[in-house]
Amino acid sequence: MEGSAMADRHALKEIDSVTIQVLVDNELDPITKSQNPAVVDATSFRLRELPAGERGPAAMEMRMEDICCGAHGLSLLITASAGDASHTLLFDAGPEEDVFEKNVARSRADLSTVEHVHLSHWHRDHSGGLPRALRMINAARKADSALGKPVMDVHPDRPIYRGFNAGPFVASLEADPTFEELEGAGARVVREGGTHGVLEDTFLVSGEVPRNTAYEVGFPRGMRFTAEGVWVPDELIRDERFVVCKLRGKGLVVFAGCSHPGIVNICQHALAIGGGAPLYAVVGGFHLADGDAAKLEASIQGLQALKPKILMPGHCTGWRFKFKIEQEMPGALVPCFSGTRYTLSGEGVGEGVA
Ligand SMILES: [Fe+2]
Repeated sequence: MEGSAMADRHALKEIDSVTIQVLVDNELDPITKSQNPAVVDATSFRLRELPAGERGPAAMEMRMEDICCGAHGLSLLITASAGDASHTLLFDAGPEEDVFEKNVARSRADLSTVEHVHLSHWHRDHSGGLPRALRMINAARKADSALGKPVMDVHPDRPIYRGFNAGPFVASLEADPTFEELEGAGARVVREGGTHGVLEDTFLVSGEVPRNTAYEVGFPRGMRFTAEGVWVPDELIRDERFVVCKLRGKGLVVFAGCSHPGIVNICQHALAIGGGAPLYAVVGGFHLADGDAAKLEASIQGLQALKPKILMPGHCTGWRFKFKIEQEMPGALVPCFSGTRYTLSGEGVGEGVA
C-alpha cells in the first residue's frame, strides 16, 4: 500500500487548496451563485467562443450540451495542491458509464492527472461508472506513460450482490464491477480495509468507521447475496470508507460517499484520525433522504457540535436536510451539484477563489 498505515492519528500533509469538480451528483443547479464566494468559489457554466462577427458583437455562446446531467450517484474529481505540486484523486464514478463519460466531456474535466481512484463502498450508484472511468484515465494519460496504471483503491470485502428487503421480496442491485473487471480496465487494484495515507499523505483513506451515535444505524433492511446462494442481513455496510485532506490553517475536508456509517460518525472519526486539525468542510452524500424527523434533528445537532464551517451535501442527503442546514447552520450550506467546480483555499491562499 502507498503511504503509511496507522491505527489512530495520521500525519496528513497540509495543502494550499483543493478543487472539487463534481462529475456526477443527483442534482444540478448551474444558476445559483455561491452565497459566500470568499470562502467557496463555485463555477458551473462553460461558454464557447463564437467566430468574430457571426452574431454581431456576441463573443461567446452557452450551449445546452455543455451542461452536465444529474444521475443517482456520486463522482468527485478532487485535486489537492501544495506549492507547485498537486495530486488528483477520483472519488467514485457514479452509477453508469455513459453518464460518467458524458459529464466528463461536458465539463471538460482533465482525467490525465488522476493517480488514485477511490471507491467509497460497494454500491452500484458509486461503482457503476468505474470501468469506463479507468479506461478514460488511461487514454487521457497515454502520452505520459511514466505515471503508470492508476491505483484502484477498494475494500477487499466485495459482496456478490447487494440489495434490500422490500417487504414481500428482496430487491437486488446490479453487481458491482469485479476485481478482474477493474484490472481489465487498466487499474492496479489495491484491496485495503485499514486506514492508509495515499498520494504522499495528501489524502487519508479511512478504515472501518466506528459506530458511536445511537441514531446512525446503517442502511436499514440492507442485504447481501452470499456464495451459498442466500440473502442475509447486511445493514452496517462496514466497507464504507471516507477520504480526508487537510487545508492549511483551516482544517479537515472530509469526502463521504453515502454515509451509511452515519455522517456524524464519519466526521467524528475524521477528527480522530486527522492529526488534531479541526473539521472545516464535509462534502458528499449524507444519506438522510430517508431519515425521519428525529434522525435529522439528531444529525444536525451532532454536526453543529463538531463545528464545521462548510457543509457540501449532495447525492443521498435529501432536500429536507439541506433545508435544515440552511435554517439551523446559516452560512454553512454549499450544495454539491453535478457539473459544478468548487475550490476551497487554505489560510493566506487568495480568498477561496479558483
Ligand atoms: Fe449512494
